Amino acid sequence: MQLQDTEIEYAKAKLKDFSVDYLQSCGHSPLAFIHSFGCQQNVSDGEKLKGKLADIGFGFTDEYTKADLIIFNTCAVRENAEDKVFGTIGDLKHFKEQNPDTVIAVCGCMAQQKHIAEKIKETYKQVDLVFGTFAYNEFYQMLWYVISNKKRLFNISENSTEISEDFKQLRDDKLKAFVPIMYGCNNFCTYCIVPYVRGRERSRKPEAVVDEVKRLVEDGYKEITLLGQNVNSYSYGFAELLKNIDSIPGKFRIRFMSSHPKDASKELIDTILGSEKVCKCLHLPVQSGCDRILAAMNRRYTKAQYLEIINYAREKSPDFSFSTDLIVGFPGETYEEFCETKELIKQVKYDNIYSFVYSRRSGTKAAELEDNISDKQKGLWLRELLLEQREVSSQWLSRFVGKTVEVLADGEGRTGEGYITGKTDEGIIVEFEGEKKLIGEFIQVRITKAMNWALAGELVEDK
Ligand code: SAM
Ligand code: SF4
Ligand code: F3S
Repeated sequence: MQLQDTEIEYAKAKLKDFSVDYLQSCGHSPLAFIHSFGCQQNVSDGEKLKGKLADIGFGFTDEYTKADLIIFNTCAVRENAEDKVFGTIGDLKHFKEQNPDTVIAVCGCMAQQKHIAEKIKETYKQVDLVFGTFAYNEFYQMLWYVISNKKRLFNISENSTEISEDFKQLRDDKLKAFVPIMYGCNNFCTYCIVPYVRGRERSRKPEAVVDEVKRLVEDGYKEITLLGQNVNSYSYGFAELLKNIDSIPGKFRIRFMSSHPKDASKELIDTILGSEKVCKCLHLPVQSGCDRILAAMNRRYTKAQYLEIINYAREKSPDFSFSTDLIVGFPGETYEEFCETKELIKQVKYDNIYSFVYSRRSGTKAAELEDNISDKQKGLWLRELLLEQREVSSQWLSRFVGKTVEVLADGEGRTGEGYITGKTDEGIIVEFEGEKKLIGEFIQVRITKAMNWALAGELVEDK
């Protein structure tokens, strides 16, 4: 079915009436349960849906059994992400039989794929609404259609690529906020589904981004993470945007992700180092340390080009922090080629790695290649990689011992009562003794010990 733009206000008004009637008959607002899987972009989309629901009088619950609307905002990046969603919606069959009026929706990257929408249509009849990543602007019409007609709706068309600035996002965190600066991806790495489910790159206007960050800072947010699949191809100039955000008054941190190494420039490093608020770290996903695999992945850089950026940053700032994403078991990868990735970990000395077993994604170029490495083998390689990283990072983290660093305290510590935890500028976890009231503050902490993944420290008292 075609949902017209002109129907938005009508559907919104109807849904508001629905909430008022519900409140009068049940004594509380209708409740929504929203779970976002996957990356920060998805979390951000989930917060937008929450904003839209709050606007029409919905409340929220963490227990799906109490919800009138259940939304799963899904991720398609790896098969296990999809399996999790099928498991979860499969478990709701009985619940839906007992609660036929509860609307169950599946949206996001996984839903955007035709074969998935069809599988849900045929096999998971408990799901009432399926919509893809292009349909968020039509949320009110879709929801009203399902509620008022008591019919199922599937909307995975790509007709709306417009960026809407007209929404009130309801954020889960009060300290840290994600701010998308662009959507989609043009890179078509051969293993990756994202360009197929998120479409081509679209950038938000710099004024809209800067205004949003200003509002967040005024509201007390202390850490802003700018999001995009490749922020370096932001249409209006990423370095310029960083400078503009850096000049917004107030005490806060700026982070961003991800940077594609093919576009990460020396100018970017200079901008980071020359700024006041941009964290001195860079998430630079390399995926593999082997040139043959990088070419097969269509990453469009070599190991040497990648290392040039790393070396440039470390020449200017020897402790510059890097993190990365890695894939093991790409089709045709040999053990020797995998070892080149292990070697790169040693060479770069990352503070953090996010490593994944290759997962075949139907519709991608790599899906046509023979996936000749067994799951067991891939699992063993992953373990090997993680052990290597553990060794590297535990030594590399010791560069902080004896130094005083600024930490944004963000929660209670794992050590127990009286301990709190926070992150350094580089995103490294620090645990230290301190009162809970410090959570949300920037604090000076002297580092006393480096552990495998984290640091221990002590508060530096104000004189
Ligand atoms: N746009 C980001 C970039 O290029 O750096 C990455 C975004 S992707 C959502 C996050 C990570 O998932 C990738 O960097 C890659 O390591 C991993 N990934 C993507 N597709 C994968 C696949 N088919 N199998 C395993 N890991 C995958
Ligand atoms: Fe996927 Fe590559 Fe785009 Fe990142 S840059 S989202 S890995 S296609
Ligand atoms: Fe993110 Fe997963 Fe989609 S990683 S962009 S939610 S496929």
